[in-house]
Amino acid sequence: MINIDILVGSTLGGTEYVAEATQPFLEAAGFASQVHFSPDLTMLDIEGQHIWLICLATHGAGDYPDNFKMFVEQINDLSDELTNVHFGLIGVGDSNYDTYCYAAKYFDLLLRDKGATRLGNIFNIDVVDSPIPEDRVDDWIPLWIKDLNLLTN
Ligand SMILES: Cc1cc2nc3c(=O)[nH]c(=O)nc-3n(C[C@H](O)[C@H](O)[C@H](O)COP(=O)(O)O)c2cc1C
Repeated sequence: MINIDILVGSTLGGTEYVAEATQPFLEAAGFASQVHFSPDLTMLDIEGQHIWLICLATHGAGDYPDNFKMFVEQINDLSDELTNVHFGLIGVGDSNYDTYCYAAKYFDLLLRDKGATRLGNIFNIDVVDSPIPEDRVDDWIPLWIKDLNLLTN
């Protein structure tokens, strides 16, 4: 069974619920998944084909959550390319900030710069009109699963 590594960047915990809300959809589509609340590249096998689903809040002034900063540094420092990685990306943010969902935007650029391939569009959830962000997961995850099936079948 193909495993999806779900990588969470969250300070206040809301995005952890977003990550967990994706799991029943993935399971129903025949994918295993594992949530990483403190992503660490040394714990992720990047040999062979890998699929990441990143659920990433923005904090500070467009900055990464603290629990995600080490992972970003690890990716930045990589000398190898991430050509074996396909990823999906859910951003969580507040559109009152000029830096709305910037962490997701920057992380997408970083991963693609390192040779990873994004599946589907970035799905940004705005907590202004979606105060329970995990309730929005079903608007997007079926589309992402379609892309996953095209990749893996
Ligand atoms: C101190 C602070 C700074 C924030 N800065 C931003 C920001 O720059 N851009 C943005 O889109 N959202 C920003 N937000 C909104 C958070 O992304 C939003 O509250 C999100 O739901 C937090 O997710 P979490 O519970 O997983 O940490 C900020 C929130 C706080 C509390």
